[in-house]
Amino acid sequence: MKKRNILVIGGGGREHAIVHKLSQSRRVGKIYALPGNAGIAALAECHPEIAAINLPAILMFVRSHPDIYMTVVAPDDPLSMGLVDRLDDMCCRVFGPKKKAAEIESSKVFAKNLMKKYGIPTAAYEVFDDYQAADRYLETCAYPTVIKADGLALGKGVIICPDMETAKAGLKNIMKDAAFGSAGSSVVIEEFLTGFEVSVLAFCDGKTVLPMASSQDHKRAFDGDRGPNTGGMGAFCPSDKYTPALAAKAYETIFLPTVAALNAEGREFKGVIYFGLMINGDDIRVLEYNARFGDPETQAVLPRLKNDLFEIFEACINGALDKITLEYVPDYSVCVVAASRGYPLAYEKGKVISLGNLASGVHLYHAGTIVKDNRLVTNGGRVFGVTALGPDMESARQKAYDNMKGISFEGMFFRTDIGLK
Ligand code: AMP
Ligand code: GLY
Repeated sequence: MKKRNILVIGGGGREHAIVHKLSQSRRVGKIYALPGNAGIAALAECHPEIAAINLPAILMFVRSHPDIYMTVVAPDDPLSMGLVDRLDDMCCRVFGPKKKAAEIESSKVFAKNLMKKYGIPTAAYEVFDDYQAADRYLETCAYPTVIKADGLALGKGVIICPDMETAKAGLKNIMKDAAFGSAGSSVVIEEFLTGFEVSVLAFCDGKTVLPMASSQDHKRAFDGDRGPNTGGMGAFCPSDKYTPALAAKAYETIFLPTVAALNAEGREFKGVIYFGLMINGDDIRVLEYNARFGDPETQAVLPRLKNDLFEIFEACINGALDKITLEYVPDYSVCVVAASRGYPLAYEKGKVISLGNLASGVHLYHAGTIVKDNRLVTNGGRVFGVTALGPDMESARQKAYDNMKGISFEGMFFRTDIGLK
């Protein structure tokens, strides 16, 4: 069997989990990662100087490496910038959606309007591109309310507003002071939903949608869901609250209709659709779509997956996903993220990391790490994810936290309640 060389775009914990899984495939040869990180470097040839948003450098890299059989585009920014389209124009095999399909993540206005047009359940909402009109609306709407910047804002473009005062200040920050640049030139103002949140990542080949095991993220920085929203401080898989009956309902009322809606709009989706769901009783609504694997959810889901990830990517690209059945080890998994002091706001880099030995079967996924002067140092807000598996949630949790004890760097912090939800 011919081994294939793969390029993975990105350099976070999610990409380390993807690279690790690909490296286990009998069909994968060499792996490249742009930019990668210090952990990925043990499995792949990394190029820290080529950022995931540096499209010209990435295209040049691909042109000069004809041995690359497939490129996997994992992060949101290059997807929204059209990297998949550019690679497709060069006749490369790519795993990931084209720009027009990735808009389900990069434009909340597009995503909400799509859901409304095709009857996909979501929170009631209004769209504004005029600051004064939005400000007036805040005087009449019910509270709490939710304001969302239209574009990508590193997961920080959503404000939950308990009252009009907070809402008006938040709106001004997004629309008038342009805290997120042009991402905030339009906003969605929507109904506040209650219930529990579940993330369902689903492979999609443009026709078939194949949901992975459910997971739950922990978006706030501190224990007890306090502090600012982050990219995600930990995750577990599966979510027992997401019952087979709920999964069947989500599939019928949300997953299939979303793929059909995208096709009807001429935006065929190949890649991973991330469904962020809010569930209350048997009511299931879409909170958000992402056009990619979630992070840290991927660090909790992929270690349980038994299938060959390369074969799934191939099936997505070839439109043959209906031939695949996903299989998992029966264990629960818990991923705890270690972050740098200050994250998700300003944080320091370049702190020397010391790593202890990990118990067997525990995964240490690197995120913001780099080797400088022969030393492993921090290079981002989220630095590591530690994922452990166990026959029940509590043993997986214990194992993840026991192994976290071996890691240290100045200013390191992590939540102590991942998996208790
Ligand atoms: P999003 O980026 O749209 O997922 O929003 C980030 C987080 O804000 C979500 O994970 C929820 O915790 C919260 N959120 C977003 N929209 C709503 C809503 N309509 N009602 C309640 N919470 C929300
Ligand atoms: N963990 C949330 C995300 O990947 O967007």
